Amino acid sequence: MEKEIKHIAIIMDGNGRWAQQHGKERIFGHLKGVDSARDVVKGANALHIPYLTLYAFSTENWNRPTEEVNYLFELMAETFLKEIENLIRDNIRVVFSGRIDTLPEATKKVILDTIEKSAHCTGTTVNVAISYSGRAELADTAKQIARQVAEGKLNPEEIDEQTICQNLYHPEIPDVDLMIRTAGDQRISNFLLWQLAYAELFFTPVMWPEFRREHLAEIIEQFSHRERRFGKTGEQVRSH
Ligand code: IPE
Ligand code: IPE
Ligand code: MG
Repeated sequence: MEKEIKHIAIIMDGNGRWAQQHGKERIFGHLKGVDSARDVVKGANALHIPYLTLYAFSTENWNRPTEEVNYLFELMAETFLKEIENLIRDNIRVVFSGRIDTLPEATKKVILDTIEKSAHCTGTTVNVAISYSGRAELADTAKQIARQVAEGKLNPEEIDEQTICQNLYHPEIPDVDLMIRTAGDQRISNFLLWQLAYAELFFTPVMWPEFRREHLAEIIEQFSHRERRFGKTGEQVRSH
């Protein structure tokens, strides 16, 4: 029986290396990576996955060469501008996570527009993480909770895990069931630190520009054979 999947998260890695392996500039890999993202989003929607988070730009990625950073933001603006009609036609909703205020004005505008235009869609919600890091999200969450305490709306003694969940960027998005990182490296790189607590992790050598919905389907198939115990014994889990 298919295990229920509510949330898939992907670290889309390997664009630069893929381009270099093909004798091209790194940015060519980012451009090709858009085709992968489009295909995987459509694939996830066809599979009725409720939430898909895509890691597009980390807070640490600001340390890359300015030309690459600028190219990425232009590419994102251009992509969402071009794809919004298709996304709506496919009933795909787009939301964003990260410090959107730090982005160039033009990119920010396209992002806000995409959120608004796709807000009514009821298929897969694609959560694009831009200028995002797990630690930054938790720091922003702490700040928001502290404000509620300062305003007298919250008693510090009542703060629990649920309080934190309710103050994340998207409280409505459930924990990650399945996390995928492409391009072979086996690390989290400051991705959804809170939400990954019990995720099943998958690392594939496939470079992001070559990753397609078929790869996703193959990983979902592997996921269905994993035993998620959430601290219980295997016997307890299987007796259910
Ligand atoms: C992922 O590919 C895209 C971003 C981080 C923006 P990379 O650009 O990290 O590609 P590699 O890891 O250098 O190959
Ligand atoms: C993680 O990839 C961030 C994104 C995919 C957007 P990186 O390529 O930046 O990660 P590190 O620096 O190799 O860990
Ligand atoms: Mg990388």
